[in-house]
Amino acid sequence: MIVPGSSSQLLAAALADDTGRPLATATYDRFPDGETIAAVPAFDGDEATVVATTDSDSAWVELLQLQDAVREAGATHVTTVIPYMGYARQDESFADGQPVSARAMARAISTGTDRVVLVNPHETAVTDFYSVPVDIVDAASVLADPLSALTDPLFLAPDEGAIGIAETVRDAYGTGETDYFEKHRDRETGAVDVSPSDATVSGRDVVVVDDIVATGSTMSEAVGVLTDRGAERIVAACVHPMLAANAVTKLRNAGVDRIVGTDTIERGCSVVSVAPALAETLVADAVAGE
Ligand code: R5P
Repeated sequence: MIVPGSSSQLLAAALADDTGRPLATATYDRFPDGETIAAVPAFDGDEATVVATTDSDSAWVELLQLQDAVREAGATHVTTVIPYMGYARQDESFADGQPVSARAMARAISTGTDRVVLVNPHETAVTDFYSVPVDIVDAASVLADPLSALTDPLFLAPDEGAIGIAETVRDAYGTGETDYFEKHRDRETGAVDVSPSDATVSGRDVVVVDDIVATGSTMSEAVGVLTDRGAERIVAACVHPMLAANAVTKLRNAGVDRIVGTDTIERGCSVVSVAPALAETLVADAVAGE
């Protein structure tokens, strides 16, 4: 049984199709005092896969409730798929008195599941915070699917940490150079500046690839440099299109022609799905567990 969180209903449905498993009609309500109450209907079988992106604090609460609800409904084996793991970027204590938030979230999630599946977490080391087995699905290659007929393409990471994901998309596209910018983020203000590489971009199509676009500061700074240097078309591609606040406008004003994201966070630009990659992992886990 696939059990969707409220923010992952399209992805959960695609996953149900791809795995042949039934899709539960979960419900998401609130009590008058504002507390969340998520629930699942009774179902046959003893296995449940909760699919819930955690792109907000309420999504975390809902996920914990769904994990508990499926146990109440009779599941004895629970898999938790977190397509986008929020708080993963808080993977250390950045100042005295601050928590390691990713660890706190992982500990809570581990109490209600037998297994966790994450899609392109910001740092793979977050898996160490879980006390149950964790699979990581690298779904970045799917970002190449909507790209067509690029002119002398350059796949550019806006910081060094994203070079691997840029190479994955280039490899899936089949041709093109890769490069990266140096990034500096002011921890106080959140302001980002990038130091350009020497890559020639004039007249070329550039695909800027990152794991996540959150405020859009990183991506729009990189895109601004590319626009100034005469790039032909600029595509902003990311696995997790958080696109918080005015990120879309920032990207457009910087010169982005197209935003391409997956459905780990369901947005208007989520034109490709991570469901096939997730289905492969879930089916392999099921076979291994037999
Ligand atoms: C940082 O290492 C990440 O890969 C992203 O570049 C960053 O988290 C994006 O955040 P924002 O959109 O707020 O600049």
